[in-house]
Amino acid sequence: MKEKKLTSDEIKKLREEYLLPSTMTYFSKPVNIVRGVMQHVYDDAGKKYLDAFGAVVTISVGHCHPDIVPKVVEQIKTLQHMTTLYFHPTIAIYAEKLASVMPGKLKVSFFTNSGCEANELSAMLAKNFTKNQEFIALRHSFHGRTLMAMSLTGQSAWRHSLPYVFGVSHAPAGYCYRCPYRLTYPSCDLVCARQVEEIIKYSTSGKIAGFIAEPIQGFGGVICPPREYFKIIYEIVRRYGGICISDEVQTGFGRTGDKMWGIEQWECIPDVIAMAKGIGNGVPLGAVTTTREIAESMRGKVHFNTYGGNPVSMTQGLGVLEVIEKYHYAHNAKVMGDKLIEGLEELQEKHLLIGEVRGKGLMLGVELVKDRKTKEPAPQETLRLMDICKDMGLLVGKGAMAGNVIRVKPPLCIDSGDVDFILGTLDKALTMLAKGH
Ligand SMILES: Cc1ncc(COP(=O)(O)O)c(C=O)c1O
Repeated sequence: MKEKKLTSDEIKKLREEYLLPSTMTYFSKPVNIVRGVMQHVYDDAGKKYLDAFGAVVTISVGHCHPDIVPKVVEQIKTLQHMTTLYFHPTIAIYAEKLASVMPGKLKVSFFTNSGCEANELSAMLAKNFTKNQEFIALRHSFHGRTLMAMSLTGQSAWRHSLPYVFGVSHAPAGYCYRCPYRLTYPSCDLVCARQVEEIIKYSTSGKIAGFIAEPIQGFGGVICPPREYFKIIYEIVRRYGGICISDEVQTGFGRTGDKMWGIEQWECIPDVIAMAKGIGNGVPLGAVTTTREIAESMRGKVHFNTYGGNPVSMTQGLGVLEVIEKYHYAHNAKVMGDKLIEGLEELQEKHLLIGEVRGKGLMLGVELVKDRKTKEPAPQETLRLMDICKDMGLLVGKGAMAGNVIRVKPPLCIDSGDVDFILGTLDKALTMLAKGH
């Protein structure tokens, strides 16, 4: 039977009738994407776009990667599902492979379906292992949409399900461009990071289960802290009995350039890594990896989910790791990221709307402001810029509390031509915006 092709208007009508009204869309007229090939996607009219947002930082190695798809198709034909109650080979092979790319003593994994589920389990591990209950998370963070993940999230727009899980306090992010203390790095002596000790002393029982943070905050607007920020916090957290959880849902799998994990950019080794999005490059896959010692706190306690570790996701996950190594994608992220940062900084000199360019590798943000002195956020201009770029064949995302940060996070397989296209398109779009388009 031939599948019926729906127009954008028909899809809109059906979505409005049958999907939860909180389901969001990008652009004044959403695009109907029907096909993806590596860093590009195509709409229903055949128009090609460079997907510089990687379908919300999820397409890590490229849409429908030709090395991976045949393996997954073969797996689907052979065995689609088997739970962890039975043996099947792929979960064992993949868990071993994942352990080989982990920092420190992180070796033991549990597979989930999503990032919020991974964060839930990370929090459970922290409570089991430390026998403490309270958590420190960061302002501007995003950790997902389950109740615990929402409680850990540090942005009001994403926290609307009351009451929250008890015992989460939020510490200041390392957001130098808008320092909450109005100080300047490095003379600030990292007061933001040192605040974690004050928060533990004054807002908790004095003993914490853990600290969770994204090494570079994604939804928060690509907030990239000073070099020493995490080292200072990790030392404080461990002194007060907590473990350190790195939410690598966006920063993992080489995205930040050369290193596999974002937290490695800050020369820290966490106790738990929670991951999703890029691990699966388009299939619902997440994971938590921790040390043997922490994992042992789960022995004797049943933990189970239906789809976690299923053969199809495991085959895809294995394929992703293999191509990251084969094509040196983490290094490509560094090379292309550096070229992008240089070009974006040149655009900043030319276009007054750009307040700051920040990030690492292919996890980049461009903060737009109405006025460089007052730093008043420019959310309307951000939306307009995204629309203009989309019309010119470039998809970028947005983030930040005020919705004024353009997020550039393409698949790690982009090349120099793509970087030139991103920069050229942004340049033209910013010029059009300045002329009142
Ligand atoms: C840093 C971070 N953590 C957790 C999540 C939640 O992941 P999921 O949507 O797969 O539950 C997200 C989703 O965007 C994220 O960006």
